[in-house]
Amino acid sequence: MGWYVDRVVPRIVDLALGGAEFDAIRARVCADLDGEVLEVGFGSGLNVPHYPPAVRRVRAVDPATAARRLAAERVAASPVPLEYVGLDGEQLPVEDGSVDHVLTTWTLCTIPDVERALREMRRVLRPGGSLHFVEHGLAPQPRIAKWQHRLTPVQRRLFGGCHLDRPIDALVEGAGLRLTALDTYFARGPKAFTHLFEGVATGA
Ligand SMILES: C[S@@+](CC[C@H](N)C(=O)[O-])C[C@H]1O[C@@H](n2cnc3c(N)ncnc32)[C@H](O)[C@@H]1O
Repeated sequence: MGWYVDRVVPRIVDLALGGAEFDAIRARVCADLDGEVLEVGFGSGLNVPHYPPAVRRVRAVDPATAARRLAAERVAASPVPLEYVGLDGEQLPVEDGSVDHVLTTWTLCTIPDVERALREMRRVLRPGGSLHFVEHGLAPQPRIAKWQHRLTPVQRRLFGGCHLDRPIDALVEGAGLRLTALDTYFARGPKAFTHLFEGVATGA
């Protein structure tokens, strides 16, 4: 992982995805977590303050090891024990059927082989376990989608591989997960960057 992606992008993300609007979204996405949680794309730990006390342990996966410094204060203040267990959502170092929930926020846009990562998430979920997510991706409006396709090559270069035009709902279902809740909406900001998918999907 290059210096820019490992050190600079996490700082930009930490600033861009912090703040009250995103905090409120994070709080909703984390609200029903409990037991054993695996967070894929942990980044600078912006979800940590939102882990409910019913969470027993969080295992974190992210290739941006320099982001751990940005996360350090949040991790130290975490009400829940947290352990870094791996670097790549495409190859989770976690046993089959061993976690209650997987958490991803603004991460499925960036993982290179996102289909593989989602199949891995399904593999590690226990029967009845669930994926909780908020992700940005492809808007249903053709005019916005056209801009998302056009801007994605630049976005990928600037933001460590981030795609604007992934159809998150279809990708989740394509991995064999079943959506039990899904809300799609625009956050504040230019529409090509802010179309969100917020939801829950179960494994087997
Ligand atoms: C836009 S940031 C979001 C960070 C964090 N989830 C948040 O909500 O603030 C995308 C994250 O995905 C991580 N990422 C990139 N490739 C990954 C992979 N193969 N497996 C897991 N995480 C990955 C990046 O390092 C980065 O931390």
